Amino acid sequence: MTKANLNWVVLGPGAIGGLIASALLEHGQSVSVLPRESGPREINWQVTHKQFKADYSAQVITQPLAGNTVFVIAVKAFDVIQALLRITTLHGFNKTMPIVISHNGMVELPELLKELNLHPLVTTHGAVKSQSENGNFCIEHRGAGRSWLEVGPQGRNQPTDFAPGLVLQQAFPPLTLEQDLSERRWLKFVINCIINPLTAVHECANGELLKENWQTQVYSLVAEAVAVAKSHNVSLTTEECYKEVLLVAKETALNHSSMLQDIQQQRRTEIQQLTGYLINAGKTAGVATPTHQQLFNEFQQRYNG
Ligand SMILES: NC(=O)c1ccc[n+]([C@@H]2O[C@H](COP(=O)([O-])OP(=O)(O)OC[C@H]3O[C@@H](n4cnc5c(N)ncnc54)[C@H](OP(=O)(O)O)[C@@H]3O)[C@@H](O)[C@H]2O)c1
Repeated sequence: MTKANLNWVVLGPGAIGGLIASALLEHGQSVSVLPRESGPREINWQVTHKQFKADYSAQVITQPLAGNTVFVIAVKAFDVIQALLRITTLHGFNKTMPIVISHNGMVELPELLKELNLHPLVTTHGAVKSQSENGNFCIEHRGAGRSWLEVGPQGRNQPTDFAPGLVLQQAFPPLTLEQDLSERRWLKFVINCIINPLTAVHECANGELLKENWQTQVYSLVAEAVAVAKSHNVSLTTEECYKEVLLVAKETALNHSSMLQDIQQQRRTEIQQLTGYLINAGKTAGVATPTHQQLFNEFQQRYNG
C-alpha cells in the first residue's frame, strides 16, 4: 500500500473526523465520507481556524469499497460499536482494512470487532461542529493540538511501514506513530475521568479545578484511576497523572469541558464510557473506586443519567 493509492473513508464526519478529512484533502488524498443517514451524494463543510476559513467537499462513499480503503472513525464512545458494525456490512469490506479510531472513554468491544485492523488515535485538538444556515456544517478548530497513532503489528519493524500512518503524519501534524498506545490512552482516559465529570457536576470552567479546595478530591480520583490502570498492566503513577491533570486544567483554564458542553446543549454525554467504565473495571479487578462512585452518583442525581 503506497501513499498515492489510499482511499480514505471518514465516518460522520463530525468535529474531529471533519478536521482530519479536511487535512487529508489539503494533502491531495482521496477522501469520501460515510454519513449517518443517506441523502446527498456530496457533503460540504467549512473549517475555521482563528481568522482563516476554508471550504471542503467530499463524495459520499460508493460501494463496493476499493481494496485500499482506510477508515477514519472519530465518534462519541457510545457510538463506537454501531459505527464499527456498520462498516463491516459495507460491500467490499474486509477485515484487513485499516481503521483509524478516535474517541474518548473506553469501550469493551465484542470479540467479532476485536479482530478488525484497529489503529487507535489519541488527539488533543479541540474542535466543535455546528450546522450552518445553508444546511452545510462548520467545524471550528478551537485549539491546535497534537496526535498519536498506534501503528500496531503492521509497523513493528519501522512505524513508517504503516502507510496510512505516514500519510496522516504528513497531513495532520504533529502526529507521532507509536507501536502501542495503551499508556497514552489510559493517561488521557484518567484525565478525562476527572476533568469532565467534575466540571459537568459543578458547571465550571476547567481552570476552577486548580483551586486548593479541590485538591483532596482530585488527588483521590487520580489515585483510584491509576490503581485501576495498574490492574490492566498500565504503569502510570499517581504523581505523574496528578501533574498532567493540573497541567491540562491550566492550559485549558477558560474552556468548558466537552462533557459540560454536552450537558449545556442537552446532548448525550460519555459518562458511562468514562466514569462508568472505570468503576466497572475497578470492580472486576477488585480495586475500590469510592471517589469516582460518589462523583458518578452526583452526576446521575443532577442530570438523571
Ligand atoms: N471535539 C473535540 O475537540 C475532541 C477532542 C478530543 C477527543 N474528542 C473525542 O473524539 C470523539 C469524537 O468527538 P467529536 O467531537 O468529533 O464528535 P462529533 O462532532 O459528535 O462527531 C461524531 C460524528 O460521527 C457521526 N456518527 C456517529 N455514529 C455514526 C455512524 N454509525 N455512521 C455514520 N456517522 C456516525 C456523528 O453523527 P451524528 O451527528 O448524527 O451523531 C457525528 O457526525 C469523542 O469521543 C470525543 O470525546 C473530541
